[in-house]
Amino acid sequence: MANNRTFTMIKPDAVNNAGAILKMIQEAGFRIVALKQTRLTAEQAGQFYAVHAERPFYKDLVSYMSSGLIFPAILEKDNAVADFRKLIGATNPAQAEEGTIRKIFAQSIEANAIHGSDSDENAAIEGAFFFAGTEQY
Ligand code: CMP
Repeated sequence: MANNRTFTMIKPDAVNNAGAILKMIQEAGFRIVALKQTRLTAEQAGQFYAVHAERPFYKDLVSYMSSGLIFPAILEKDNAVADFRKLIGATNPAQAEEGTIRKIFAQSIEANAIHGSDSDENAAIEGAFFFAGTEQY
């Protein structure tokens, strides 16, 4: 994945707002390169968030992320990773700026509506986790 792409995932607490969230993403200038609806098993959620395996919130995070549908997507825009993290706001919605996706839609620091990759390298890894081998990707 080049440095004009990022990976996102609308999380189980926010799928009911997926239409509004995707509209915000598109209006911010991102092109949706790939998108699907799916549900992670606990094992898959554990793999996706393996980097957090030693954190105290890991078990709950895995349980939450496998609790319902999600919408993973690959997005394209100049400066995609940084611009997208600005659009979604801080991990903890209580600290997110007004107008950001998490400020508007997130429930808590765990159920925080949406994921955004933190680097070009992770965007490539995370995008491949869901879309490797598919035609769009
Ligand atoms: P995300 O950006 O997808 O990356 C890791 C996720 O772990 C994060 O969003 C939250 O859903 C969750 N998370 C991060 N920090 C905490 C925390 N302190 N307590 C509970 N969940 C957290």
